Amino acid sequence: MKSFDIVSALKNNSEYIESFLSDILSCEAIGDGDLADAMRYAVLGGGKRIRAFLVMETGRIFGATPEMCVPFAAGIEMIHAYSLVHDDLPAMDNDDMRRGKPSCHKAFGEATALLAGDALLSLAFEVTAGNKNADPRSAALTAAEYGRLSGVLGMAGGQEIDLGGNAGSYDELCRMYNLKTGALICASLFAGYFAASPVPDQKIIEKLKTYGLMLGLAFQIQDDVLDVCGDEAVIGKPVGSDSKNDKHTSLAYMSVDEAIHEYEVLTDKAIDAISDIPGSESLTALALHLCKRNN
Ligand code: IPE
Ligand code: IPE
Ligand code: MG
Ligand code: MG
Ligand code: MG
Repeated sequence: MKSFDIVSALKNNSEYIESFLSDILSCEAIGDGDLADAMRYAVLGGGKRIRAFLVMETGRIFGATPEMCVPFAAGIEMIHAYSLVHDDLPAMDNDDMRRGKPSCHKAFGEATALLAGDALLSLAFEVTAGNKNADPRSAALTAAEYGRLSGVLGMAGGQEIDLGGNAGSYDELCRMYNLKTGALICASLFAGYFAASPVPDQKIIEKLKTYGLMLGLAFQIQDDVLDVCGDEAVIGKPVGSDSKNDKHTSLAYMSVDEAIHEYEVLTDKAIDAISDIPGSESLTALALHLCKRNN
């Protein structure tokens, strides 16, 4: 059997999402003031678009068309971009570079960057709830999950724990990573599934959740490794941000080699969770591809 061409699939997906995002963030759609410029700056022309890929592929696997999924994919990418804009602010990680260019607050000032994050989150919900190509029940379910998983019991809650900088144990650190990173990855998978299935099956949700949490944990541990061993020109954000901020990451509990082994094991667990879903080869290929990433 021919193996799935993940590199081409990611590239095609990025182009498709970029075009949709460019429309909903165009001057015609949101105006041309500083705030609108900052929103475009934070979202367009960068990022790996992993979360969008998860939405589109999960949708495809369960029978949704790209048109049904793309507003949800754009929604999660805008939520993710907002989280990065706020994550880089001086009050959080205080990082000057993102996606190979000055962070949003470096380009537009802190106040406008704060508002750009706020407005991206709002627009994400407008576009998600307003998805006319999917069943209204799919849009309602997805908007509710985006709210839950980006909020206090998801990404924002994880970021708040991260501000403490020092999880008491490796298990606590993993719980925090599930929230700050795993939650939006799970949200992406659920959104794709909901696009195809307005009346979801809890057994499928559980499989997707295990895949999402394992992938999210692997992804964040790898992000910790890249923060130490990565090449700034390739990752497009500062190396050494975690130690600058006295963050106890996964590398407080293990060596780089052990961390690499850990995220490979987590990747296998992610793949195991979805292996019996017909058509899930693309999600397997993505997990294996991410394991080898250098950005
Ligand atoms: C960065 O996410 C934040 C983490 C959860 C580690 P990505 O590495 O997916 O960022 P982009 O979208 O590709 O810039
Ligand atoms: C994840 O953590 C950030 C979010 C959930 C927004 P990091 O702070 O490690 O992400 P990077 O390294 O700045 O992309
Ligand atoms: Mg951070
Ligand atoms: Mg950061
Ligand atoms: Mg990081």
